[in-house]
Amino acid sequence: MRNTNRANEPASFWTQANALLRKNLTFQKRNVKTNIRLILFPFVLCILLVLIQTILNNQFDKAKYKCGCVENECGVQYSDFDQVGTCPITNPMEWPPLLQTPDPRYRAVRTDFLPFSDFPNPLCRNNGSCPLTMLFTGTNQSFGEVLSRNMIPSTIDIDNSNVMDSFATNVLGSSTETEYTNFLEPAFFSELPIYYLQSQCGKNSTLSVPVQISTSSIQQELRCAQALRLWRNSSSEVNNAIYKGYRKGNTERQINEITAGYDFLNSNEDTFNVSIWYNSTYKNDTGFDKIALARIPRSVNLVSNSYLQFLLGSGTKMLFEFVKEMPKPETPLKFDVASLLGGLFFTWVILQLFPVVLTSLVYEKQQNLRIMMKMHGLGDGPYWIISYSYFLAISIIYMLCFVIFGTVIGLKFFTMNDYSIQFVFYFIYINLQISLAFLLASLFSNVKTATVIAYIGVFGTGLLAGFLFQFFIQDTSFPKGWIIVMELYPGFALYRGLYEFSQSSFTGDTMGTHGMRWGDLNDSTNGMKEVLIIMFVEWLLVLFFAYYIDQVLSTRSWKSPLLFLKGFQKKHSSSFRKPSLQRQGSKVFVMTEKADIHQEREKVEQLLLEPTTNHAIVCDKLSKVYPGRDGNPKKFAVRELSLALPEGECFGMLGPNGAGKTSFINMMIGLTKPTSGTAYVQGLDIRTDMNGIYTSMGVCPQHDLLWEILTGREHLLFYGRLKNLKGSALTQAVEESLKSVNLFHGGVADKKAGKYSGGMKRRLSVAISLIGDPTVVYMDEPSTGLDPASRKNLWSVVNRAKQDRAIILTTHSMEEAEVLCDRLGIFVDGSFQCIGNPKELKGRYGGTYVFSMATSIDHESNVEKLVQQLSPNAKKIYHISGTQKFELPKDEVKISNVFQAVETAKRNFPVSAWGLADTTLEDVFIKVAREAQPFHTLS
Ligand SMILES: *[C@@H]1O[C@H](CO)[C@@H](O)[C@H](O)[C@H]1NC(C)=O
Ligand SMILES: *[C@@H]1O[C@H](CO)[C@@H](O)[C@H](O)[C@H]1NC(C)=O
Ligand SMILES: *[C@@H]1O[C@H](CO)[C@@H](O)[C@H](O)[C@H]1NC(C)=O
Ligand SMILES: *[C@@H]1O[C@H](CO)[C@@H](O)[C@H](O)[C@H]1NC(C)=O
Ligand SMILES: *[C@@H]1O[C@H](CO)[C@@H](O)[C@H](O)[C@H]1NC(C)=O
Ligand SMILES: *[C@@H]1O[C@H](CO)[C@@H](O)[C@H](O)[C@H]1NC(C)=O
Repeated sequence: MRNTNRANEPASFWTQANALLRKNLTFQKRNVKTNIRLILFPFVLCILLVLIQTILNNQFDKAKYKCGCVENECGVQYSDFDQVGTCPITNPMEWPPLLQTPDPRYRAVRTDFLPFSDFPNPLCRNNGSCPLTMLFTGTNQSFGEVLSRNMIPSTIDIDNSNVMDSFATNVLGSSTETEYTNFLEPAFFSELPIYYLQSQCGKNSTLSVPVQISTSSIQQELRCAQALRLWRNSSSEVNNAIYKGYRKGNTERQINEITAGYDFLNSNEDTFNVSIWYNSTYKNDTGFDKIALARIPRSVNLVSNSYLQFLLGSGTKMLFEFVKEMPKPETPLKFDVASLLGGLFFTWVILQLFPVVLTSLVYEKQQNLRIMMKMHGLGDGPYWIISYSYFLAISIIYMLCFVIFGTVIGLKFFTMNDYSIQFVFYFIYINLQISLAFLLASLFSNVKTATVIAYIGVFGTGLLAGFLFQFFIQDTSFPKGWIIVMELYPGFALYRGLYEFSQSSFTGDTMGTHGMRWGDLNDSTNGMKEVLIIMFVEWLLVLFFAYYIDQVLSTRSWKSPLLFLKGFQKKHSSSFRKPSLQRQGSKVFVMTEKADIHQEREKVEQLLLEPTTNHAIVCDKLSKVYPGRDGNPKKFAVRELSLALPEGECFGMLGPNGAGKTSFINMMIGLTKPTSGTAYVQGLDIRTDMNGIYTSMGVCPQHDLLWEILTGREHLLFYGRLKNLKGSALTQAVEESLKSVNLFHGGVADKKAGKYSGGMKRRLSVAISLIGDPTVVYMDEPSTGLDPASRKNLWSVVNRAKQDRAIILTTHSMEEAEVLCDRLGIFVDGSFQCIGNPKELKGRYGGTYVFSMATSIDHESNVEKLVQQLSPNAKKIYHISGTQKFELPKDEVKISNVFQAVETAKRNFPVSAWGLADTTLEDVFIKVAREAQPFHTLS
């Protein structure tokens, strides 16, 4: 185990970083299956999208959804209503302008909520003959009456040879719904009649006229509808009537639609100033919103025409001949699923990375591996840089796979939007996500909890964003500020970004233009700019807080990281501090200290005053007090412990469970801070210089802290590198170390640590604690769970190792303590009861022999009598069904007397077994522990 080039130099930043990186890469190599599963997730989602897209495309490819064709000739004339939308229309039809009129069922009548005497009698609804009510108002009623009368003709005048033209000179209306475009006027393809408006309908109110549409001629039924012109005293009355008639979706009886309302305002001969009420929405029962704007110009034309006639006489006409849509190319039906579902699916795909990073971080925390690495010299800087870059690299590879795959299979979502925007967006987001994982990792201590919560978070966020947040984005009346507030939640910000991408690619695709470009970010409806800013700022903030909280948790103080940041952290002396007067004065009470403990304390005081370098560990009144909780008193785990350990000594701490040994070790290795007092390791104070101490320290914790999927050799390589071993020295050290703990042969070194037996793990832990020649080694029960052969082996390892380093070892095995330790301390209830080498202790506490004898139960009293005769001061220490043990003071008995007495006794009663033994360390231990803890029963 001794190594020629002792790694006194602490490992440099890059050496540490290199060690961690190599470990992570090995880890990643082992994790191939998980990685494949991870990468497959977006692939599966993309393929699913492609499948849905293919099915849809197949559907749209059917003749039903394509421009109708007959014998290779395609066009509007061969298409039915579903098909016509896709046809190229080079020369759109001209349609006569129509008014939007309410259906006869809904036309306004007199009701209890519109109780106007001039409204039509409700009976008209029975035969569909209700008039179309139009309301008028203005400042000059007589003027208004004239204008309104001019608007509605009293006769119909149709020229059968040119029906379309003569429609323009009459007032026609329809109650059909309009389309989004005006390529076809639905009024001419509907069952519903076209109405012609007249001031009064005659007897023969229906006529049929031939209409030429494209190449075919149809008979179109025209039905008379009476226009009822009603004057109102104010615009608010008009408004009120229209509002009350609004279709509220209850019974038909409650609906009273007004055809139109006109307010002539201050119009007169010189001024024409009108406002018009019209119904722009045409919402049918399935909730389709249609805009009837195409039918509004006619209502404007009516009143303009009427004003012209008022000024210039009835001969003058302002004709509104036709409406005509703009021509359009062929527009096959398209539906890009990825753009529509992309928001939700891709949010999941990207969020998916979060649990991966989080669990990996929590795993190291749960297994205390982070602290283990730290104890072996891994600084925070390398840890953060390497872990962060490592997760970043994984995320980038994942995202690259995702984007490349999506592009290859041709999802518009990826191909249409500018790749540089996509890159910036994804890059910022994954950085934010990793920082967030670092921050949240401090909240979890259990991998399972973290996994479950993270996945609930992932799916919940996706669903909430897709089914709630999206509505807020789409609702233009929703305050923008609130949306930005919601986007502070990174999941929503991600969704918003993806939503913008999908919107851009969707519109780009349907319009045949492009997706998002950098210039589009300037667009006020495009939320991408805000999202990028929010995510960038959050990334920096979250990263800062994650680092800060990590520092707080590792130093267990809220202040020190801030001090570090402010840059005025005190310089601590690296030499022993002189004991202050105040400290000496404060302890007034007299302790009934045993001589050996007192001597140790004096030695420590001496050392503090005159530092010498050969003492590796000096503990100065180290104490640990746990505050009392729930009314329990404070717990003194360690009380004013003083101890000085030179190099080359192995010190054994014996003590019953719960005596405070582990608390002591935890303070020494920096897991907890001492409540008072301190310890110096190689002259460095454990309260302030832990990072310096770590580089020369080795720890074998009570519970093995190992990575399940790394092999023994990889563990040693990693920790060896952390201890600044390089090249051949490293391989040699690792091999020697593996050999010394018997893990070298039979390929054991290259098996995963998770597959090791308990004993093998233990040996590996010991090897880890010794690699790189640390000057101070702590071993917390190193041999528990080892078989006798391995234990012997381990002892020889430790014995060889202790030559020029200080080892503190806790154990429950007296044999081990005797074999390994140069000095022992029995530690009970927070303080040492005695300190000394094993022989001294035995001599001091073991002034007795132990005599044991086994007989039948009937003869127990005989044995007692026998012992009484041998030594009047004998004490019975053990007694069970005929077997008894006694302590005989050494000065009272002679061994030869005992033999004689037993021989005599054997003749009187049967003795199945007997023995006489000198005190063992175990006896000493039990005795000391019992004295110190009168109220505790010891097992
Ligand atoms: C109202 O209009 C009529 C017809 O144009 C006009 O003769 C009359 O002077 C107007 N009345 C007022 C008060 O302007
Ligand atoms: C409108 O005003 C006229 C005259 O001032 C009045 O007779 C009539 O009742 C008013 N109509 C309504 C509906 O208020
Ligand atoms: C406008 O038309 C829609 C659709 O026919 C109808 O539901 C609504 O009640 C109408 N509004 C008014 C004020 O008549
Ligand atoms: C038109 O009427 C409105 C509302 O009464 C009024 O504010 C505006 O000044 C009028 N315009 C003219 C040119 O008279
Ligand atoms: C509502 O409009 C849609 C789309 O135009 C149509 O398919 C549906 O049949 C209409 N529903 C009713 C009840 O008119
Ligand atoms: C963005 O908009 C601002 C004002 O709205 C304008 O001044 C600027 O030139 C625009 N930038 C780009 C790149 O279009």
